[in-house]
Amino acid sequence: MDSRGGRRYLYLADVSDFGGKKCMTESGQEKTENAAALHLEVDDAADSLSLPLMHGSLGPSVIDIRELYSRTGHFTYDPGFMSTASCESTITYIDGNDGVLLYRGYPIEQLADRGDFLETCFLLLYGELPKLSEADRFRQAVIRHTMLHEQLSYFYRGFRRDAHPMAIMVGVVGALSAFYHDSTDINDPEQRRIASIRLIAKMPTIAAQAYKFSIGQPFTYPRNDLGFVENFLHMTFAVPCEDYLVNPVLARALARVFILHADHEQNASTSTVRIAGSSGANPFACIAAGIACLWGPAHGGANEAVLNMLGEIRTVERIPGFIKRAKDKDDPFRLMGFGHRVYKNYDPRAAVLRRTCRDVLEQLDVNDEPLLKLAVELERIALEDEYFVERNLYPNVDFYSGIILRAMGFPSSMFTVLFAVARTVGWVAQWNEMIEDPLQKIGRPRQIYTGESKRDYVGMEHRN
Ligand code: CMC
Repeated sequence: MDSRGGRRYLYLADVSDFGGKKCMTESGQEKTENAAALHLEVDDAADSLSLPLMHGSLGPSVIDIRELYSRTGHFTYDPGFMSTASCESTITYIDGNDGVLLYRGYPIEQLADRGDFLETCFLLLYGELPKLSEADRFRQAVIRHTMLHEQLSYFYRGFRRDAHPMAIMVGVVGALSAFYHDSTDINDPEQRRIASIRLIAKMPTIAAQAYKFSIGQPFTYPRNDLGFVENFLHMTFAVPCEDYLVNPVLARALARVFILHADHEQNASTSTVRIAGSSGANPFACIAAGIACLWGPAHGGANEAVLNMLGEIRTVERIPGFIKRAKDKDDPFRLMGFGHRVYKNYDPRAAVLRRTCRDVLEQLDVNDEPLLKLAVELERIALEDEYFVERNLYPNVDFYSGIILRAMGFPSSMFTVLFAVARTVGWVAQWNEMIEDPLQKIGRPRQIYTGESKRDYVGMEHRN
C-alpha cells in the first residue's frame, strides 16, 4: 500500500495479457478478445478483476475501464488525459516516439510533398484519396459555399479595429449558426454534410475578412476560379485598386502549412470540439469552441509566441540567457515552439516546415535570413542542452511555421487564425466521426472532490 500525505492510494498492482476471453460483438456474434487482469489493493483488501483489452490497428493496446466504477466503486484519475484514450478513431495516427504522423494511413511527408489541400480534406472526411471525378465534385461543392451571408459581414463592424483576429474568429464562427439554420440538425446526415462543407469553405473568407477589418481595407470577395489556397491569399492581400497575382511559391508553401495542420488526433481543440458536440450542440458552435481552445499559447497560439520570443531574443549572443531562463523553474518563461505532449522525438511536421522555410526565404528573397539564423542556432543549442535532451524537448510544428507565414506577409496575430483555417477540416471530420459512433455518449468526466465536507449555513451575524 502506498500512502502519501495522509491519503490512501489504490494502485493497479498487475496488468497482464491473457487470451481467450469470449465476448459478444454489437451484432450478437461471439468473438475472442484479450483481457487485462488488474490486481487492485486498498489497505489490506485485495481484489482482482479482468477488463477487456482493446487493440487498434496501430499503437499500444488500451484497457477498457468503462465498467471499472460499476464493478469496483473507484474512478481513475488522469488530469490532462496522460493515459486515457477518449474515443476510437480511424482518422489520424501519431507515433510520438518514432515521430510518425499518418492521415488515414498516409505519411504526412508524402501528403505535404505531393498532395494538395482539398484532396487532403477529402481524405480526412471520407477516408480515401479522391478519384479525379470525386476531387472535381468536392471542389465544386466547396466553392459553392465560399461566400458569406452579406448580413454576417456587418458583424465585423461591432468589433474594435484593434481586436485580435482570433477573438473575431470565435465570434463570427459562433454566429454562423444564426445564419445557416438549415444545417444545424445534427441527426440529419445531409445537414451534417452541408455544415461540414460550409465550415471548410467559409473559414478562409471569415479569416481574410478578420484581417482586412483589422487593417481598415475593404473586404475582398472570394474568387471561385482560384484554388483553395490561392483564393485565400487573394482575399487576404488583394485590394480593389490593383491586380493581385498569386505567387505560386507562396501558394505551394501555404498549401503545405495547411496540409500539415489539417488534423492531429485528439489534441486539446479537437477534444473540445468532440466534447462540445457530444451534448448535441450544432456544428458551428462546436467549431467556435475549438477555435477558442486553439487560441491558447500552449496549443495553436504557440506560432505567434515563437515569433514574439525570437523578437525578444534578437541576437544569437543572447540565446544562452534565454535557455537559462527556460530551465529555471522559478521563471515562467518556456522556449516556445519546443516540446510536445505526444512527440518525444522530432515532430515530423517541423521537419517538413524546416525545408519549406528555407525554400520560401530563398525564393522570395525576404530579408528574414537573420531571424531564420537565430531560429536555427536556438534549435542547435537547445538540442545539445542536457535539460532539453533529457526531457525529449524537440522543435514542434510552430517553431518554423511562424517564420514562413511572416515571410509571406502575414502579421503574427494572424498565425493562429491560419492554423484554425487549416484545422477546420480535422475538427469537422472528428465531429462527424463522433456523431456517427454508436457508442458515443455525452462527455462527462468525474473528479476527486477535495473541498469542504458537508457543513451548515451560518448567518452573517455569526461569521468570524
Ligand atoms: N521550455 C522549457 N521547458 C519545457 C518546455 C519548453 N518549451 N516544454 C516542456 N518543458 C519541461 C517542463 O518544464 C517539464 O519539466 P520538469 O519535468 O522538470 O517539470 C517537462 O519539460 C515536461 O513538460 P510538461 O509541461 O509536463 O509537458 P506537457 O506534455 O504537459 O506539455 C507542451 C507540452 C507543448 C504544452 C509544452 O512542451 C510547452 O509548453 N511547450 C511550449 C509551447 C508550444 O510550443 N506549444 C505548441 C505545441 S505543438 C502545436 C500543437 O499541436 O498545438
